[in-house]
Amino acid sequence: MAQATAAENASDTPPNQGRRRNLVLIGFMGTGKSSVGRRVAESLGFQFVDTDQMVIKYAGKSIAQIFADEGEERFRELETEALRRCTLADGQVIATGGGIVTQPRNHGLLQLAGHVVWLTAKPDTVLDRVSRNHDRPLLQTDDPLATIRDLYASRVELYRACAAEEIDTTNLSLEETAHGLSESARIALG
Ligand code: S3P
Repeated sequence: MAQATAAENASDTPPNQGRRRNLVLIGFMGTGKSSVGRRVAESLGFQFVDTDQMVIKYAGKSIAQIFADEGEERFRELETEALRRCTLADGQVIATGGGIVTQPRNHGLLQLAGHVVWLTAKPDTVLDRVSRNHDRPLLQTDDPLATIRDLYASRVELYRACAAEEIDTTNLSLEETAHGLSESARIALG
């Protein structure tokens, strides 16, 4: 029998070939990506990185100030740049901004960056968690709860399409979420 060609053998290649050995957290604002991510990184012995913090560093100003001075589009460009940078290394827990899935160019980068987990929470839990922080320009509206619901509805299918698994954090403490996430990352990343 003739030898199979490389192309015919392509299905034997592992599905995660070319994917970095990182854990990537996506999800709406206030779902705990950064606070949980920091704990998970510690537990896995990984480096913690946060695309929002990278953008703040690139721009030399707060996210609210970037939106005010240069607009959301510029923020999104810097965010893609930060994500691209994250795809260059292994051993990271990467917390992303809640809107990263809104840019189609980021979808392939997310897959390349690592094992993608989607953190969710109910809208009123989100509001409760974000109300102490004013560096979220998209929520500076007259009715932030309605804004959360609308934005979430416009993004939910994008989160679903980009994620390998989902964790609902609504009734979980940071420690509980971090514990569950560390366990599933150990399994997914081997
Ligand atoms: C945004 C979420 C924020 C930040 C920016 C825009 C969004 O990150 O990137 O304010 O579009 O949902 P967090 O999800 O870390 O709050």
